[in-house]
Amino acid sequence: MKDALPPVFRSHRRRTAGFAVGAVAVAALAAVFVTAPSPPFSPSGASGPSSGPSAPRPAEPDAKASESPWIRPAGAPPTVFAHRGASSAAPENTLVADEVARRGGAKWIENDVQPSKDGVPYVLHDPTVDRTTDGTGPIRSLTSAQLDALDAGSWFAPVYAGARVPTLAAQLADLRERGGNLLLEIKGLHSRDEVARIVRDVREQAITRRVLVQSFDVPSLRYAHELAPELPLGLLRATLDADPAALARELGLTAYNVAHTALTDKPDVVGELHAAGVAVNVWTVDTPGRWKAVDDLGVDGIITNRPAELAGWTAGRGAV
Ligand code: G3P
Ligand code: CA
Repeated sequence: MKDALPPVFRSHRRRTAGFAVGAVAVAALAAVFVTAPSPPFSPSGASGPSSGPSAPRPAEPDAKASESPWIRPAGAPPTVFAHRGASSAAPENTLVADEVARRGGAKWIENDVQPSKDGVPYVLHDPTVDRTTDGTGPIRSLTSAQLDALDAGSWFAPVYAGARVPTLAAQLADLRERGGNLLLEIKGLHSRDEVARIVRDVREQAITRRVLVQSFDVPSLRYAHELAPELPLGLLRATLDADPAALARELGLTAYNVAHTALTDKPDVVGELHAAGVAVNVWTVDTPGRWKAVDDLGVDGIITNRPAELAGWTAGRGAV
């Protein structure tokens, strides 16, 4: 048992014996532990238990939609995206949260990336470190040395003391080693040079085909496309655009990642985007009632704070 824990857990063993016990329990309960790199967004579950005859079937994809591997085939379950890692069970945007999500069955991790004062991309959601670390101040005012010294786990629970704010490079290396894919959010406004640094980090880890870049910031997506046309792009939206399919075409989007509430009044937009060859992923959905609702709408992926529960739900949705 001594070596049953991967290093991401072992590194915290001395200070977090309680958490280590929890990690063993997570490992024992996990139905899927991704040890090999996942293919680029292969729609999951098409031949698994969840594709049984009683599984809900979204609208049949048209010819254009079937050309995109990012659009799930009829009957396949939606893809599970772990929002900031398994953020309901571990401190968000840390490697521990990624590991818990991975062991819980999520093949995709969502993160938020912003630069330090010295230009190193770090994984952090807020503009400041105040809420999720023991430090204070805007991330852009702190050097990488200062960020590396912060505790990003204690705020969530004492057993996570010692968790760090990861660099994007460290998170990518961890994914490359342990498996999984990254929904990489360029958080806030970025300059072209700042996006170029993100692209460099992704390319250096050689897992470009396992990364989907997303942002609310349209210029950041344009920079990413110019700098790395091989990277698929998703546009984040809190509300629907007047013509999402037209905008998707203009920006060369692979995915339109919209707040789930925005689909309530205009569910047909899912089919319109699919007809344009664009996948639809929704955020942030944490309850079975809403999982069912967006599944029935035919969305391709669900971004959730509860990835293990959603992974179980998608696996069993044909039975409920
Ligand atoms: O991935 C969608 C979601 O993360 C966007 O909102 O604020 O959690 O980054 P936020
Ligand atoms: Ca995010």
